[in-house]
This record gives sequence, C-alpha cells and structure tokens, in this order.
Amino acid sequence: MYVITGASGNTGKVAASKLLKAGHQVRALVRSAGKATDLAALGAEVVENELGDRAGFERALAGATGLYLLSPPDLASNSFLAERAKLLESVVAAVAAAKVPHVVLLSSIGAHQPSGTGIVQSVAGAEKALRGAGVTSTFLRAAYFVENWGAVIPVAKQDGVLPSFLPGDLKVPMVSTADIGSLAAEALLDGPRGQRVLELAGPVDPTPKDVAATVSKILGKPIQLLEPPLDAVVPTFTSFGISADVAGLYRDLYEGIIKGRVVFEAGKAEARRGSTSLEETLRQLAQ
Ligand SMILES: NC(=O)c1ccc[n+]([C@@H]2O[C@H](COP(=O)([O-])OP(=O)(O)OC[C@H]3O[C@@H](n4cnc5c(N)ncnc54)[C@H](OP(=O)(O)O)[C@@H]3O)[C@@H](O)[C@H]2O)c1
Repeated sequence: MYVITGASGNTGKVAASKLLKAGHQVRALVRSAGKATDLAALGAEVVENELGDRAGFERALAGATGLYLLSPPDLASNSFLAERAKLLESVVAAVAAAKVPHVVLLSSIGAHQPSGTGIVQSVAGAEKALRGAGVTSTFLRAAYFVENWGAVIPVAKQDGVLPSFLPGDLKVPMVSTADIGSLAAEALLDGPRGQRVLELAGPVDPTPKDVAATVSKILGKPIQLLEPPLDAVVPTFTSFGISADVAGLYRDLYEGIIKGRVVFEAGKAEARRGSTSLEETLRQLAQ
C-alpha cells in the first residue's frame, strides 16, 4: 500500500491516480476529504491529515510499502525555512517510527547546493533530514514547474505581455507536474534502491522567449516578454499576499537560477526527461 501526501495537489493526484489505475492500493492523504472524491472513486482510501499532526501522520503510515512526500508550500509564512524545517523534523520522525521502507521525496533542481538557492533550501533541508534519519529515500529533484507560468498567463491575455524574472534567452529546465507525478509513481513501484536521486526536466529546456512564443501561438495574438528587474520580485510577490519572507526566498531563487547555482547535480544522479510538451501544459493553463 502506497501513502501519498498532497494527494489533492498537482503531483500527488497524478501519482495516486497512476498507482490506482495500475491496480495498487493507495492511501491518499488530504486536509479535506472533499478534495479527493475522484481518487476515492478510483478506489483510494482517503484519510484526512495535517502533516504537522505527528501522531496522526504516523497512524496514516501504518502498513505503508512506500510514501510519496512533499514539503507543502505556505506562502504566508513569515519564517518559511524555519517552519518547514520544524514540520519536516516531525514528519521524518513519524516516518522513522512507522518504519516506512521507502520514501519518494519531491525535491528540486539545485537541492544539492548548501546555499544560494532561495526557497529550494527547504527541500534541501528535507533531503538532509531524511538522510540523517537513515530513511531509504529517492529524491525526485524536479526542474522549474511549467505550471509556474499559470500565474502570468492572465496578464498575457489581458495586456499582451508575459512578465518573467528569468532572462529571455536563458535556457531553463522546466517540467510539467503530470510528468513529476508519473515518475513519482514509477519510483514508488521501483521500491527502495539505496539512496537514489532522480533529476527530472521536460522534453527540452526552453527559454522564457520560447514560453512567450508558445503562449502567443495558443492565444492567437502577439505576446511580448517583459523582463522586470530582480528588485521587483519582492514588491510583486507581496502585492499578491505572499509574505515578505517567502517573496525574498523567491528573489534568491531567481538570482540562483540566473547565476547558475540552481542546476542539476548530475554525476551519480539519474537524469530523466518527461514527455509532456511545454505547449500541452501551457494550453491547459490558458483555458
Ligand atoms: N514550483 C516549482 O517550480 C517547484 C520545483 C521543484 C519542487 N517544487 C516542490 O513542489 C511542491 C508543490 O508540489 P505540488 O505542485 O504537487 O503541490 P500543490 O499542487 O502546490 O499542492 C500542495 C499540496 O500539499 C497539501 N498541503 C499543504 N499544506 C499541508 C499541510 N500542512 N499538511 C498536509 N498537506 C498539506 C495541499 O493540500 P490542500 O489541497 O488541502 O491545500 C496540496 O495537496 C512545493 O512545495 C515544492 O516543495 C516546486
């Protein structure tokens, strides 16, 4: 039986659905059961759980063959890295106590770097916590999500510009969450293989100008890429209700990508590419 955290989210839902459709037992963890009626219809055991509830999480792990774990976002936090570290400490203690034989952690490109990667440091901390507790894990280090562009597609629709804090000509590994969920399911089915690292990008590494051109094709009108300076990240993000702390971590992430720190580790890590095209996902986001 596979336990899936974030089963109402982008990647967890895909991972759970793939496993269920392949005939495996799935326990889908959600904060509200109403968000998993589709998974229940596929045969999932739906359990309401808040990851910070250590005892409840440990109970939800009983009998697990494998666990898909994500470090959930909390964009309103004023102390994001410290709060994630505390949450992950509790989560990892529960995993160790429940003796889960294999964890697939949703991590990120750049998670091998000790610093200079902004918000990625939260999942770097999760990797470290799992390693430290001796939990056999697969770190699924995903590239920049194509879905991140969903936040600015309405601007393109309305104003004909696509704002990007990433430079127009920079090739950036990007991946669709459908491919992440699929690889997570595959890794769970592979089972424990020592400390394993999978690094996942999409079929090609597009530039933000490629993204603008694709959005232009989808919307059927010219779209110009707008490149605001990095100093605009914090005011822009906080204007959408994101805390100044989290906004600062995103600024550092963009700087880390631009300066070449947020990259794949390569070496012993297994490089994978998904099959979902940039256009396919952007088309869904534009609907
Ligand atoms: N964006 C990127 O470019 C990028 C790149 C690499 C890695 N990542 C990682 O990907 C993660 C997001 O993955 P995703 O897109 O699959 O998720 P998502 O769609 O953002 O959904 C988050 C999931 O976590 C659940 N959740 C939130 N807080 C929780 C809590 N305290 N206890 C239990 N569940 C909680 C949510 O439940 P509700 O439905 O109840 O809210 C939801 O199911 C990020 O947190 C980051 O670590 C992101």
